[in-house]
Amino acid sequence: MRIVKLRTIDSTNDYLKSLVKKERLRQDTLVWTLEQTNGRGQMGTKWSSETGKNLTFSIFRKVQRVAIEEQFYVTMAASLAVKAVLQKLLIQNLSVKWPNDILSDKQKICGILIESVIKRSKLDAVILGVGLNVNQTDFGEVLRATSIKSITGVHFDLEEILNLLVEQFHFYVQLLSEGKLNKIKEDYEANLFRKDKPSTFLGRKGKFVGIIKGVTPLGKLILLEEDDILNEYDLKEVQLLF
Ligand code: BTN
Repeated sequence: MRIVKLRTIDSTNDYLKSLVKKERLRQDTLVWTLEQTNGRGQMGTKWSSETGKNLTFSIFRKVQRVAIEEQFYVTMAASLAVKAVLQKLLIQNLSVKWPNDILSDKQKICGILIESVIKRSKLDAVILGVGLNVNQTDFGEVLRATSIKSITGVHFDLEEILNLLVEQFHFYVQLLSEGKLNKIKEDYEANLFRKDKPSTFLGRKGKFVGIIKGVTPLGKLILLEEDDILNEYDLKEVQLLF
């Protein structure tokens, strides 16, 4: 895999997107930076990270045999890969908050932003952006954020963790290429934050109680609600309050 290291850039996802346009990227490429001036999060949010303290990187990865309808499997695979690395580093009580925030207890340690490269109506590649809090310990006003150092007290070498992540991504993307979709979904669902527990959600009509039962293959959240009814929601439709 080609690795590009930049001191500063607007956003590693955007950088790769412009490379895709300019170069018709053929090779898997990883771009990491010590500082993003316009780091992006899910649903149009900003991603802030103290310069040089955390991992902010994106991987451009060609995908084969993954249909557009199966894109959510890439999200699940990426979440599981991050979780596996954090587990190796002995971070406690890890879970995946749907769709792809990695939590330790109730605190967010990693966010993932996945964007697709579509060619002739087929999923051609994915750009997988990862913001993993490593050595930052002060998160100011940001609620419920944590880092590897905040939890373990140990300062980590960023490159060492990056290498572990790349290894795990390869492992999980390989599972995808082998068509082991059910295994990925089962692992993902088994690690969902607040699965099988009554939780409060904010939906279009206000607050309601539901129990997370799993996800659909397209990535919708399945909730068991009053009168034993199962409903499916996409990201814009529902927010877990916790
Ligand atoms: C989220 O939780 O909202 C997703 C955060 C994703 C942040 C990463 S940092 C590297 C990559 N470049 C970006 O602009 N965003 C992602």
